[in-house]
Amino acid sequence: MVVVEPSFAPRGESVSEQEHGVRAHSVITGEHRHLASLFDEARAALETDGGGEAAQEALQRLVDSMEAHFQREESLYYPTIWSLRPDLKESLTGLIETHPQFRDRFEAIRGALAAASAAEAGRHFEEFADLFSDHERAEELLLRSLDVDLTASA
Ligand SMILES: [Fe+2]
Ligand SMILES: [Fe+2]
Repeated sequence: MVVVEPSFAPRGESVSEQEHGVRAHSVITGEHRHLASLFDEARAALETDGGGEAAQEALQRLVDSMEAHFQREESLYYPTIWSLRPDLKESLTGLIETHPQFRDRFEAIRGALAAASAAEAGRHFEEFADLFSDHERAEELLLRSLDVDLTASA
């Protein structure tokens, strides 16, 4: 069994390919669940606070966490996975290539808030939330197949 660099493991701990795949899935889906709770908070703040300070702060927390998550996927999680499974590199690169559109959509929400259009900001937010949810589903589907493949080859 191949033992790989433990990018998903605590420092100094070596893990097998199979364990690596399982950890990748649980780490990334755990981050997705955290982002989902920040989406809920931002949605609630937009609904009750319109474009006020609480809504802007909730949106900022969401965008900061989303950006940190993207950075980890782009520079750590996905390169680690495709070093084990080069056949997944194209699919993972395709997922990474969709990240900029979420950054752009966030700017549309901010623009609507700056123009004092809470209703338009709410519409942009729901479009953004739907697209982001599709993106996460696609990622989790791919990661689930990784768990199965690595388990099968162990
Ligand atoms: Fe992603
Ligand atoms: Fe993700």
